[in-house]
Amino acid sequence: MKSSQHINIGFLPPYLHSPGKIEMASSTVVKIAPVKRALLQLIQTRCAQTAAATEVAPRMKKFSIYRFNPEKQGDKPKVQTYELDLNKCGPMVLDALIKIKDEIDPTLTFRRSCREGICGSCSMNIGGENTLACLRKIDPNTSKAMKIYPLPHMYVIKDLVPDMSNFYAQYRAIEPYLKKKDGSEKDIGKTQYLQSVKDRAKLDGLYECILCACCSTSCPSYWWNSDKYLGPAVLMQAYRWMIDSRDDFTNERLSMMEDKFSVYRCHTIMNCTKTCPKGLNPGLAIGEIKKMLALYQSEAKTAKA
Ligand code: SF4
Ligand code: F3S
Ligand code: FES
Repeated sequence: MKSSQHINIGFLPPYLHSPGKIEMASSTVVKIAPVKRALLQLIQTRCAQTAAATEVAPRMKKFSIYRFNPEKQGDKPKVQTYELDLNKCGPMVLDALIKIKDEIDPTLTFRRSCREGICGSCSMNIGGENTLACLRKIDPNTSKAMKIYPLPHMYVIKDLVPDMSNFYAQYRAIEPYLKKKDGSEKDIGKTQYLQSVKDRAKLDGLYECILCACCSTSCPSYWWNSDKYLGPAVLMQAYRWMIDSRDDFTNERLSMMEDKFSVYRCHTIMNCTKTCPKGLNPGLAIGEIKKMLALYQSEAKTAKA
């Protein structure tokens, strides 16, 4: 006997996708159209509710950025503020800068390359601290603007780009490469200079420096005497070569630094070590150079006597 009745279907089986009636094995006839309508309505309501619940409110964050273009006549340095929705931006300060340049202001100028803390080119002053824009996370507190300036006490070429010429000239001056008394390093590739595991380990914490200059430009002594004081970044690299067991010029490297300025303008302020985005300790390296210099000078005195 056939009976016609509505049944409560929790899940819509495939055979219910067409309207009309369907003959069930038990000979129960199901009226499909109203059930399907109700279900569709329910699904639509649920979808709308879920969409409303998952819709994220924009998180607008301000970025106050130093702007200066010396090529533009009469242009004075100023701070320009941009706003970004953090929901639509990557997590790092460099992501924000790239987004501003791409979508809001193509004239904004800054250096960057690797975006992973290797090249050292995106160093700048963020929230009062020298660091790498690609390693510094955007502060999620949207009530505060993020302040971004070029590295302090440097000449500015444009916006966030400092002039690094003096810094590189100082680096060149310490001859940051292997030097042998027999000149054999010139045949590089033909000779192997072996080093014990212990001697190699001495270079750890030194060779990782990416020459971003965050340390040197955070050092007050370097701010005031950058023409004569070598600064923590360059001194740490000088030390790296002084203690390399393969190098033959330790004493010559030390004698280059006997004057009052090259090393001795370091007053152990330690801003350098505090700010290094690679977690290195240039302050310690300078202390070690001072010890080596003291020994070198007393040995030289003894030899003279
Ligand atoms: Fe940068 Fe650190 Fe090297 Fe200084 S020591 S240049 S802060 S990586
Ligand atoms: Fe400057 Fe670092 Fe020396 S901050 S004074 S270089 S310990
Ligand atoms: Fe290379 Fe930031 S982009 S260190």
